[in-house]
Amino acid sequence: MVPVMLCGLHARRVASHMQTSRLNVAMIGHGFIGRVHSNAFHQAAHFFQIPYELNLKVVCGRNRATLEAMASQWNWEEVATDWTQVVTRPDIQVVDIAVPNVLHAPIAISAAQAGKIVLCEKPLAASVQEAEQMAEAARRVPNLVWFNYRRVPAVGFAKRLLDEGRLGKIFHYRALYLNQSGNDPSKASGWRYRRAEAGSGVSGDLLSHVIDMATYLNGNIAELCATTHTFASGRDVDDAAIVMVRFKNGSVGSFEASRYGVGCSNRNVFEINGSQGMLRFDLEDMNRLEFFDATQPPNLRGTRKLLVTGPDQPYAENFWKPGHTIGYEHSFIATLGDFFTALSRQEVFRPSFGDGLAVQRVLERVHKSAETGAWIKCN
Ligand SMILES: NC(=O)c1ccc[n+]([C@@H]2O[C@H](COP(=O)([O-])OP(=O)(O)OC[C@H]3O[C@@H](n4cnc5c(N)ncnc54)[C@H](O)[C@@H]3O)[C@@H](O)[C@H]2O)c1
Repeated sequence: MVPVMLCGLHARRVASHMQTSRLNVAMIGHGFIGRVHSNAFHQAAHFFQIPYELNLKVVCGRNRATLEAMASQWNWEEVATDWTQVVTRPDIQVVDIAVPNVLHAPIAISAAQAGKIVLCEKPLAASVQEAEQMAEAARRVPNLVWFNYRRVPAVGFAKRLLDEGRLGKIFHYRALYLNQSGNDPSKASGWRYRRAEAGSGVSGDLLSHVIDMATYLNGNIAELCATTHTFASGRDVDDAAIVMVRFKNGSVGSFEASRYGVGCSNRNVFEINGSQGMLRFDLEDMNRLEFFDATQPPNLRGTRKLLVTGPDQPYAENFWKPGHTIGYEHSFIATLGDFFTALSRQEVFRPSFGDGLAVQRVLERVHKSAETGAWIKCN
């Protein structure tokens, strides 16, 4: 990532945050990802040299009993049941949004307008219009969207190899993100399966990660053609999405996301073929990056299964010694570590709300293409 220096009002706002070494965090939502974020807030300063003490001040939800149990387990100081009273509190510096997707916009806009640092889960919003309003509101405050997979060391190493030109001219970028939650009645009854709470189905949920990762690694998308499918009758969100993509760098690709990928728990995969080699990653084996170097003599060519735990690989200085593997939670810890490092240096962090908005624009085109069957240009 190339750091971008802040200027003007944004820099002054960041500078005012920098004077406070203790930052009080308010987290809205305390479900699955709320636990992941709680862990990351506790751990970030253990693994990264950041000049901030992240204080878990207040966690907000709706059910006081489950909220209190969660707060006690994860060491939150206070609980609250009305987010509107929390995000403008003068003693709060950081608002972290970990609730169903349609609540992201009102909470983020309110927090940004109150001058808070705003961290928001993906997808950034339920629509492009909401995402634009969020990006505009957050223009003057430090912000982050939790596309955490950018911070998996093996993904960061893939990015480094691509930036070094080790793959040559890129021909193909193909990606899958599959789970089997749709085929499980206990899971398929939750908010993720209702448009009114989720905004969309697998596209906002899993395809958003695929799009962010693809544009991070392979650049912007020029045009796409998509189909979506809903398996369960009466459900108003998409269960599967398949997208053909032309990238601006001349490569072509395909994205597939499904909640009916039976046999796959959290199979987030990319595979990139270039004139000089191949890279392959699978989140279910997240410490590994497969690399085929086509510049080797033909009789020595073969796919290397690199163990990306250092030395001289991303986050080798932050986490454990080489060969001592890391897990899902470290991608969130590294996201916070990089975010607060950037904040202390007055640098812009990516992925920002602007990146979340860019993903939302691609998602909108996926839905438009699925409705019309047409190829749609992306700007
Ligand atoms: N980055 C990732 O890889 C990743 C992974 C999982 C979830 N997520 C995102 O995190 C968000 C939450 O997902 P989850 O899996 O934690 O869901 P969840 O159902 O486990 O938890 C949702 C939480 O939101 C709370 N909530 C709902 N309405 C509320 C309200 N009005 N006020 C306060 N709290 C309210 C619920 O009480 C619950 O604690 C979603 O946007 C999802 O897309 C991201």
